[in-house]
Amino acid sequence: MATTPHSHLARSLRLGFLIAAIIGLATGIFAWNQIEGERQIDLDDVNRRAHAVAQQLTVTVKKALTLTDAQANQALRARLEGYSRLIGFAVFRSDGRLVAAGKAVTDFLDHIEPAVKRAALSDKNSIEVVRAQGIPVHILIIPLPDVGGVLVVAHDISYIDVRATDRLIQYGFWILIVTLLVVTLVMGTTWFTYERPLHKLADWMRRLRTENVVEAPPRGLPSALLGSESDRLAATFRAARSTGWRLSQAALHAEQVWTSDRLRAHAVAALGEAQQLIVVSNREPYMHQLRDGKPHVIVPAGGLVTALDPILQACGGVWIAHGSGDADRETADASGHLTVPPGDAHYTLKRVWLTREEEQGYYYGFSNEGLWPLCHLAHERPVFRAEDWECYRQANQRFADAVLEEIGNGLAVVLVQDYQLALVPQMLKSKRPDLRVGIFWHIPWPNSEAFRICPWGADLLAGMLGADLIGFHLQQHCNNFLETVDRVLESRLDWDHFAVELKGSISHVRPFPISVQSWLERKVPAGEELKQQIADLKLQHKLDGQYIAVGVDRIDYTKGLPERFRAIDRFLEKNPRYHGRFTFVELGAPSRTHIRRYREHISELEALADEINWKYQTVDWKPIRFLAAHHDANTVHAFLCMASMCIVSSLHDGMNLVAKEYIAAQTAQEGVLILSEFAGAARELSDALIINPYDTEQFADSIRYGIEMDPVERRRRMERMYRFVEEHNVYRWAASFLTELAATRSQASKPDSLSLFERRSAL
Ligand code: F6P
Repeated sequence: MATTPHSHLARSLRLGFLIAAIIGLATGIFAWNQIEGERQIDLDDVNRRAHAVAQQLTVTVKKALTLTDAQANQALRARLEGYSRLIGFAVFRSDGRLVAAGKAVTDFLDHIEPAVKRAALSDKNSIEVVRAQGIPVHILIIPLPDVGGVLVVAHDISYIDVRATDRLIQYGFWILIVTLLVVTLVMGTTWFTYERPLHKLADWMRRLRTENVVEAPPRGLPSALLGSESDRLAATFRAARSTGWRLSQAALHAEQVWTSDRLRAHAVAALGEAQQLIVVSNREPYMHQLRDGKPHVIVPAGGLVTALDPILQACGGVWIAHGSGDADRETADASGHLTVPPGDAHYTLKRVWLTREEEQGYYYGFSNEGLWPLCHLAHERPVFRAEDWECYRQANQRFADAVLEEIGNGLAVVLVQDYQLALVPQMLKSKRPDLRVGIFWHIPWPNSEAFRICPWGADLLAGMLGADLIGFHLQQHCNNFLETVDRVLESRLDWDHFAVELKGSISHVRPFPISVQSWLERKVPAGEELKQQIADLKLQHKLDGQYIAVGVDRIDYTKGLPERFRAIDRFLEKNPRYHGRFTFVELGAPSRTHIRRYREHISELEALADEINWKYQTVDWKPIRFLAAHHDANTVHAFLCMASMCIVSSLHDGMNLVAKEYIAAQTAQEGVLILSEFAGAARELSDALIINPYDTEQFADSIRYGIEMDPVERRRRMERMYRFVEEHNVYRWAASFLTELAATRSQASKPDSLSLFERRSAL
């Protein structure tokens, strides 16, 4: 319901009157007490005076009462008249007979006589206040038993009532003034402090939603938190709007799909020919392992290699990475260089050597027992050890030195990859501020509260903020990152441009959803050769005639493999008609097996797969084929092609390229993708069957739905996703990253220019 300034005013008025009523009631009770107190003091005063004047007359009265009534009347009459507020005296015999009275007193005798009789009986002084002819009269009655009489003193006390009424009027007046003041004050305060700023905020939010509002949120909000949160809201809104704008612009201009050739030309234009491209990551794209005493090339599993290798193949350059294969040294030259891909050289790989201790502390320890669980919400507790941190720092320095040595005195654009190398950007910039450095974070960035667990969080952030450009998969991760910087570091944040200034250097933070290249470009079997390969694999794994679902993962607790197996179990439990007809093949690449948690995870999965298989298997059918081994690209491709369904059930994932790899393999566009809502890919691939991996029932039902989906719907969904992945491929990802990086201003090359923040404030 819309609110108007009038309704704000009415609300302030109501509040003002409520407070005024409370204050009025409290001060009224106080005033009443005061008036009653004063009345009591006045009465006490009259009592005292009545006793004093009675005292003075007592001797004379006693003497007169020894005479006859007529003589006594004669003797006393002149002495019994009153003056001022003293109305006068009266004298009675003990039996109530009047002896003598002042003139004014005779008017009240009717009221006095009953009281006199009561006092004579009790023999005690008494005081009564009677109202006679509308006048309040104070009567003091003093029995005189020794002479058989009673003395009465009467005072007019109407002045006490008059005084109380005056005080009541005075108090009433002041209460009214105070009430009016309070109402005005409360209304003014609530209006200026709350109602007006909130009204302005609501108005600003409406315009933020409906127009392209550029001004900052209103100042002077009642809470600082409200102010900073509305700043962020505006920033998020603008970022989302500008991303939307950029995407729509990109869509308008993307007349052709990005290819490796187009990327190469774009990179040359964006970077300038003098600059070389350096990629630095922990994981190398080609690893040499000894097999039967001979070096054997392996392409390691994981999204990083899948995404970056085509970029380097397209643009050329140097990829610097840890040489972790046991035959790596013998296959590289003395300085760790070799050209790759082996036998089809497109770029240079430079291997960095780490000691076993360094690898243990930096890679297994800090990176994968600390940062990995920290960034993934998979309920695995991060472990941070000081000695691991020391190794992490040292190893990062080693990578940074390798990059600097590689560049020499030349110019370069350095693309730092992932959480293992967070300190490298700052290490590079401290030596070579003229380099253009970008870092891409391949995994999620947690919220600021979760990140604060890390004892060296501030150092990590400062390390990353050495980069000119910091990339994440999702806008959400960018938001989390900026909020973390805001909480952890003393820096200047520009939410409008998603930038951070730390010690004079500026980093831009942007989302770049990563992707894959088309399978057609990779040298994987196609046509008849592929058909034969698929036939062989089906024979080998007894898959003929089966509905095949596939999963391809590094074996990692973030991938939701137990949840996947349980959902398959539940699916078979609920749908016995698929017994003997449905097989799920898991191509699981063992990973980080020096970490106990990962070894245990493999055993857990094997046990679970066995348990489920045991429940349903027949002589020639098993529902789950868990193939835990390193699988080459040809095998992965063949399985992705033969599978009618691919299941991705990550508990938390930056992107998950397997989802896109599967779509890219669906040239016939027949397959079904089941995708976890917690994988970054779910934001782009809304035509997948989106599941919550923790919800076994929903997961199992989605498997059935996927199998039984109407072929027209299935094809329509896959067609849309296929087109999306084809257009938003990895070349496009790299091109947008390089374009943004080229657009960032090199601090060193323009030392006298105003910073982004200064320019903003100067406007
Ligand atoms: O998807 C990318 C990624 O998960 C990286 O974050 C990680 O570096 C890689 O794949 C695989 O991990 P590792 O290098 O430890 O084998």
